[in-house]
Amino acid sequence: MAVLRLRTAPDPILRRKAKRVGKIDGSVQKLIDDMLETMYASRGVGLAANQIGVALRVLVMGIPDAEDETVHEYVLVNPEIVKKGGQREVEEGCLSIPGYRGMLTRSEWVKVKGLDRDGHEVRLKADELMAQALEHEIDHLDGILYLDRMKEQGTLDTLTEIEAGEAAEVAAG
Ligand code: NI
Repeated sequence: MAVLRLRTAPDPILRRKAKRVGKIDGSVQKLIDDMLETMYASRGVGLAANQIGVALRVLVMGIPDAEDETVHEYVLVNPEIVKKGGQREVEEGCLSIPGYRGMLTRSEWVKVKGLDRDGHEVRLKADELMAQALEHEIDHLDGILYLDRMKEQGTLDTLTEIEAGEAAEVAAG
C-alpha cells in the first residue's frame, strides 16, 4: 500500500468522467488499498480514484461512527445512485480543494449500488454524512466538484477559507 499524491484543482483529471471498471483484478484491488491509505493519511471521509490520478469508477469511504470512535470503511466499484430523496443544507470541503469549504444542498438520503473489492454486488442506504460523502464521491467520478453544486456557482475565489483549528470539523472527500 502507498499514500499517493492527491490531485488538486484545476488538475484536468478532476473534470474527466471516470470509466467503469471491467474486471476487478489485482491492479484494481491495489488501487483500492492505496486509495484507503491515502484517504486515511489525508483525514478525508472519502476519496474517488480520479483524485489520485486514475480515471476509473472506484470510491472509498471511512465514515466515523456517530456513537463511538470507530470508522466504518466502504469500497464501491462502479457505484450508482439508484434513488435519493429530501434536501438538506450542508457544509462541505474537498481533499482536491484544500483549505476551503462551501455550503450547498445535498440529498437527505441515497440508495446506492455497486460492487465490493471482490466483485460482489453491494447495496447501501445512507443518510447524514455518509449520504453526503456518497454524492460527493460519485460526483467526482462524473467530473463534478462541489463548487458546481453551490447556489452561487462557486469558484475558488468565492469559497470560504478554512480557519486553523476548524479543518477537522469540515467533511472533506
Ligand atoms: Ni472531493
